[in-house]
Amino acid sequence: MTQLQIGPHSVQPPVVLAPMAGITNAPFRTLCREFSGGKGLFVSEMITTRALVERDAKTMRLIHFDGTEKPRSIQLYGVDPVTVGRAVRMIVDEDLADHIDLNFGCPVPKVTRKGGGSALPFKRNLLRSILREAVGNAGALPVTMKMRKGIDDDHITYLDAGRIAVEEGVTAIALHGRTAAQHYGGTADWDAIARLKETVPEIPVLGNGDIWSADDALRMMRETGCDGVVVGRGCLGRPWLFGDLVSAFEDGGASYAAPTLKEVARVMLRHAELLGEWLESEERGVIDFRKHVAWYTKGFSIGSDMRRKLAITSSLGEMDALLSELDLDQSWPAGADGPRGRTSGRNRVVLPDGWLNDPYDCAAVSADAELDTSGG
Ligand SMILES: Cc1cc2nc3c(=O)[nH]c(=O)nc-3n(C[C@H](O)[C@H](O)[C@H](O)COP(=O)(O)O)c2cc1C
Repeated sequence: MTQLQIGPHSVQPPVVLAPMAGITNAPFRTLCREFSGGKGLFVSEMITTRALVERDAKTMRLIHFDGTEKPRSIQLYGVDPVTVGRAVRMIVDEDLADHIDLNFGCPVPKVTRKGGGSALPFKRNLLRSILREAVGNAGALPVTMKMRKGIDDDHITYLDAGRIAVEEGVTAIALHGRTAAQHYGGTADWDAIARLKETVPEIPVLGNGDIWSADDALRMMRETGCDGVVVGRGCLGRPWLFGDLVSAFEDGGASYAAPTLKEVARVMLRHAELLGEWLESEERGVIDFRKHVAWYTKGFSIGSDMRRKLAITSSLGEMDALLSELDLDQSWPAGADGPRGRTSGRNRVVLPDGWLNDPYDCAAVSADAELDTSGG
């Protein structure tokens, strides 16, 4: 049995829920863990280090873990070594998590324009300083990092970043096999995951990008030699994918889920209900759930009018009533296992003036590169 070791934590099977801003909050993680029987590692959505050290109220809610979550895994995003160090120290001192992941993959223009997100690893010394502060303040907590291949095909950074991470004591690295320029377009480059594995044989490498089914996860492990997989968009509206992943690794895929619309409707209600409990308001929970409706119902014939109605509900009762009007006996639609979520590309990465002139200068990134929270 393949086993992934992240510091003191054994992750078996070696399957990780990708951090996704606005998605992988405690309710969604709970749902995924229910399907996986608690197996795997489930990372929080991204938390900005400045907001954490300032104890911003929304951020404090985002770092909430269900009492049964073990290990508690927080993803941090920061651009300033000192602030990252302080955030990590706060997590340790206040026992807020058991694992810290650092996000260097965000391709959003608002962030890269300031040199943050996926633009940052190009500045090798700044990357090193951030990792050093994080690891240095983490005590016994393992620190991992997640990154993209680089800015674009002419500015590939992941192999240098991988070596720097090893030198600074990072425990494991996840690579999304795209550049920032690719955004979510094209296909993820799994060969890059294999290259990274060869370059940092000392630590586990987690492969990420375009795992849409449990079989894809096994194929990525086989083709790249990676130590584990990180699954993002594939589980949007499909939290049972984590059950499939466990099945793929443990019983050769004997028990993959193919839920009927009735079963999907039950999961939708449960998801909305958990969100309501977390947000301490049924209405806010159902409103937050709206973004998931199209993913859950993808491929089922429910009609555009019903999709629209479901996306504007604001109570569980209303949602339940609408769902019960559907032809709930529909079986899982062929093709619904394919790509979902963001799939569009982008060609140009917006960077600060002169950013690409010198990879080794003493760059600093202004704190407002942390303001965007839309993720990776
Ligand atoms: C809605 C959304 C939000 C995301 N937020 C984050 C984030 O907060 N931190 C991060 O490292 N990556 C984030 N990502 C990137 C994913 O973690 C993952 O790297 C990417 O989706 C590729 O994996 P996939 O092909 O399995 O989706 C986000 C992706 C999506 C679609």
